Amino acid sequence: MTKRTIYLDYAATTPVDPAVAAAMRECLEPDGNFANPSSSHSAGQRALGRVEEARAQIAARVSAPADTIWFTSGATESDNLAIQGAMLAHRDQGRHLITSRTEHKAVLDTAAAMEKQGFEVTYLVCDSDGLIAPEQVAAAIKDDTTLVSIMHVNNETGVVQDITAIGECCRSRAVLLHVDAAQSIGKVPVPLDQWAADLVALTAHKVYGPKGIGALYVRPGTKLAPLMYGGAQERGVRPGTLATHQIVGMGQAYELADTDREAPVLAAMRDRLWAGLSAIDGVRLNGHPTQRSPHVLNLVFPGVDGESLRLGIAEIAVSAGAACNATAPEASHVLSALGLSDTLAGSSQRFSVGRFTEPAEIDYTIERVTAEVARLRELAGGAPAWCTN
Ligand SMILES: Cc1ncc(COP(=O)(O)O)c(C=O)c1O
Repeated sequence: MTKRTIYLDYAATTPVDPAVAAAMRECLEPDGNFANPSSSHSAGQRALGRVEEARAQIAARVSAPADTIWFTSGATESDNLAIQGAMLAHRDQGRHLITSRTEHKAVLDTAAAMEKQGFEVTYLVCDSDGLIAPEQVAAAIKDDTTLVSIMHVNNETGVVQDITAIGECCRSRAVLLHVDAAQSIGKVPVPLDQWAADLVALTAHKVYGPKGIGALYVRPGTKLAPLMYGGAQERGVRPGTLATHQIVGMGQAYELADTDREAPVLAAMRDRLWAGLSAIDGVRLNGHPTQRSPHVLNLVFPGVDGESLRLGIAEIAVSAGAACNATAPEASHVLSALGLSDTLAGSSQRFSVGRFTEPAEIDYTIERVTAEVARLRELAGGAPAWCTN
């Protein structure tokens, strides 16, 4: 991508860090670690060594033992394996699943598929800041509840749920907790040694690793039914030849993702953007003002059609919300859950900053968005009276 595009869509995906690409390349070349890690010859065992090193790097980043990290193709698969795998494995003990309306589609569509198979699902409703109260989780747990699935960092608003407290509710009622932490690494700590979480979905491509690789943290003793059959890899629960280069890339990406170092830099960029854009008449922040990740700023510009704004600032990559829903015509289910009308949800933009964001790009974005909002409002006959400060 040329530098003429300003990339402020790091919540959708990130570029691969050059150090990650170099580590991956070593596993692709004829004199590198390309062998099948399941092969018993020395080349295979060397590749296996690299896989296990990556497993340890990922485990270290989330304060978990290495053998709790099981590789998948990404957070979507991890969410599916966690939810379907746990519900199917415990189908005789309990058929009730609890989740929330603001989850990623990887969870919501999986929950809907479980409902079609005769499982019962409770969808918790967040408050207008996007938060789920731990008491709501406690109140929803029934005798036949098997699993609660609540995300950590919301991909559209950046709102961070109180997983520690939610985990305590689940643990005290002997209910499993699954957490989608796809957006968290490098931005908000994921202390699995402190959370009472049994299953946690991780991915590489939100944190400068390659697409198509992820992991599921599985607390020892958690029963999961496999969704695929075909080999003994990943304890037979997730069979298939291990993608050494992808796994090594993910390991390297997680090693580089130092939250203590990076989160304050991201927060400074996000705050610089908000300081500039908050001067626009009527602009509002979507999601909790403080309990949120440093990389996401979701704003509503009343009276401005979101798609028109994105077209007007085409040299700046921002999005309406989740990239996977970008072609869906309906309003964001996350912003609707926060109580926004379809019109306000359609006037919202997600800006997300990352490792390669520069202050000059933020300043340019402030200038361009401010001018474009003014132009679009002018075309529409001026900003409505209620949205002037
Ligand atoms: C919160 C959340 N969960 C799940 C996913 C899906 O992750 P992946 O692209 O690794 O399947 C994403 C990213 O799109 C996400 O932001």
